[in-house]
Amino acid sequence: MKFFIDTANLDQIREAQALGVLDGVTTNPSLMAKEGITGKNNILKHYVDICNIVDGDVSAEVIATDFEGMVKEGEELAELHEQIVVKIPLTKDGIKACKYFSDNGIKTNVTLVFSAGQALLAAKAGATYVSPFIGRLDDISTDGLNLIDEIRMIYDNYAFDTQILAASVRHTMHIVNCAKIGADVMTGPLSSILGLLKHPLTDSGLEQFLADYKKGN
Ligand code: G3P
Repeated sequence: MKFFIDTANLDQIREAQALGVLDGVTTNPSLMAKEGITGKNNILKHYVDICNIVDGDVSAEVIATDFEGMVKEGEELAELHEQIVVKIPLTKDGIKACKYFSDNGIKTNVTLVFSAGQALLAAKAGATYVSPFIGRLDDISTDGLNLIDEIRMIYDNYAFDTQILAASVRHTMHIVNCAKIGADVMTGPLSSILGLLKHPLTDSGLEQFLADYKKGN
């Protein structure tokens, strides 16, 4: 499973990259705003800065909501850097834009996906990635992981190439359960990735090993 970090914070991206397990980055307009990155030119520059830190795919989201606007904006984003993946919302125009980009060799990430039917449409339109938001489904007392399971089954039934990018991951068990189901990618905050390191028996075991070494040396 690929690990993407879901942030626009350059320090956190650098920290995840330094760990050696990072495969890419996802961002969205809210994450950009959280870092105080505003204005078109600053946002475009920030995408390039992110691409220069990591080796893998970097999702950059369109703001336009109409087909022509999405195509124009997406082409501009794709021109920025070879690692850019154009992120498009799951709407009627978004699906049309996804098909356009797919036909023109531009990678896409179809976002704001909350149902298996939406994920099926995204795959039919040739999406590179589909982003089901599992945490936000959990937030409304729906089983986010069940959606990953459903999409996995549907994509496997028809050998769709679209990669399932489990998004809105909030914690380590989301990551572990996505891996068990077979999500292709997960994107989460740095805390969810670092959380995988933690186990009290690792800490106490290491403490004991070091104490025993000191006794003999
Ligand atoms: O990748 C999607 C993500 O940014 C949404 O996460 O935690 O705001 O639901 P969250």
